[in-house]
Amino acid sequence: LSKIEIKLSDIPEGKNMTFKWRGKPLFVRHRTEKEISTEEAVNIGELRDPQHDKERVINPKWVVVIGVCTHLGCVPIANAGDFGGYYCPCHGSHYDASGRIRRGPAPLNLEVPYYEFLDDNTLVVG
Ligand code: FES
Repeated sequence: LSKIEIKLSDIPEGKNMTFKWRGKPLFVRHRTEKEISTEEAVNIGELRDPQHDKERVINPKWVVVIGVCTHLGCVPIANAGDFGGYYCPCHGSHYDASGRIRRGPAPLNLEVPYYEFLDDNTLVVG
């Protein structure tokens, strides 16, 4: 299937859920207010792959990214690492709660796929 439909009410605040989409892991994260304010305040001049949080989300409560480390393709672990977002255990890449690379060998932020919200409770990716 080229598109996946996700019911957002299944994902509690503070949790990340992993889906399978086009043969890859897809992360959908329901961010807390604290995560949103932390990521929006990051100085993008300090980032390896500079992107403001607002460029990476449609609704700040929801982060939608491909769960493939941009170093050599391992699947990162959610809610882990020095920046509280994702941690790739293969060679130690730390991503923040926007999916941006913050420390370790990965060159790029986690990829944001095309997605849209059909209504308040329905996310469609693809
Ligand atoms: Fe993730 Fe190397 S594959 S750090």
